[in-house]
Formats: sequence, C-alpha cells, structure tokens
Amino acid sequence: MSRPPGKSYLSASQIRLRVRTLAASICRTYRNRPLTIVALLKGSVFFVVDLLRHLDSDTEVEFWNVSSYEGTRSTGKIRGLEHCRGNLHGRDVLLIDDILDSGLTLDRTRSHAKKLGARTVQICVLLSKQRKRARNVRARWIGFKIKDEFVVGYGLDLDQRYRALPSIRTLPSSPSST
Ligand code: IMP
Ligand code: MG
Repeated sequence: MSRPPGKSYLSASQIRLRVRTLAASICRTYRNRPLTIVALLKGSVFFVVDLLRHLDSDTEVEFWNVSSYEGTRSTGKIRGLEHCRGNLHGRDVLLIDDILDSGLTLDRTRSHAKKLGARTVQICVLLSKQRKRARNVRARWIGFKIKDEFVVGYGLDLDQRYRALPSIRTLPSSPSST
C-alpha cells in the first residue's frame, strides 16, 4: 500500500465518535417528522453512510452528484445540478456534504431543493472551513471546524485521489493553490 499523503489531522476514531453525536442530535430534531437526506456525491459518501447507520430506518435518501473543484481550487461553477431530482415535495430535507468551503455548492443545492418543493432545508457538514464565504450559508450541524487548509480522506479527494483514506489529512499547499 502507498504511504498516506500529508499530515494527520483527524483520526478515524475521532470521526466515528463525532458522527455518532451528530446523528443523535439529528434524530432528536426530526423525531416524528419524516426526513429526506440529500447527500452530495462523491465527497459525502463515507460520512452519509456512517450517519445513516444511526438514523431512523424511515429516513429517505437521495444522492446528488455535483462538483465544483479542480485540484485544490473551486472553479466557481457547480456542475451536474440539472440531473439532481427526488421527491422532495413537502419534505423536511437535510443536505449532507463533506465540507463547507466557499458556500457555493450548498447555496446552489439548497435553492434547488427548495425549487423541488422541500418544506424545510437544513445543512449538515462533516467539516467547516473557517474562512470568509462567497455565499451566506450556515450549517445547522458541523462535525469539525477546521483551518483554511486543503484536506483529503474519508471521502474528500484531490482530483479523485485519497477518498479511501480512513482518516482526514492535510496536504501542504501547492503553488497552484490560493
Ligand atoms: P464550496 O462550494 O466552495 O463550499 O465547496 C464545497 C465542495 O468543494 C465540497 O463538496 C468539496 O467537494 C470541495 N472541497 C472544498 N474544500 C475541500 C478540501 O479541502 N478538500 C477536498 N475537497 C474540498
Ligand atoms: Mg465534493
């Protein structure tokens, strides 16, 4: 197996414990209210599956495949939204993503969920970068607040690599990143 890149940032057991706490809080909030999870692919795939193990068995799940990043930079555009569907009409929707960065992805997907008729839309992210956002997006549930650094692992990628790492690691900033 190849050596993991960068420096260790969050261990698999830290993530596991935090996911369990988040799930308990989500369950309390949506008790007796049917919930639809909308998970953004591919980055949130480990996070959403681990969360779902602890949520009500009635929870519905949609996967939306959207992307905005090339390398360690956002392109400023969201691709794939036109294919994102689901029966969200009148539903309480919880958008799940790996990381809140500029806010563009969650701002656009939240508007899309509302356009599809969602009754409420809340946001849950594993990571939230402490930086100035391009869009005013607040996540109701945040796993960890992190510094403005590029991270990989547990679903997060650098050009599709490193998603399968069980922990989260920081990469040294490359000359192309800002
Ligand atoms: P935003 O639209 O700028 O908020 O970016 C959100 C998306 O960018 C996330 O869904 C991630 O796919 C990607 N992203 C942002 N920061 C990182 C990072 O540090 N590592 C890996 N992906 C990231
Ligand atoms: Mg992503």
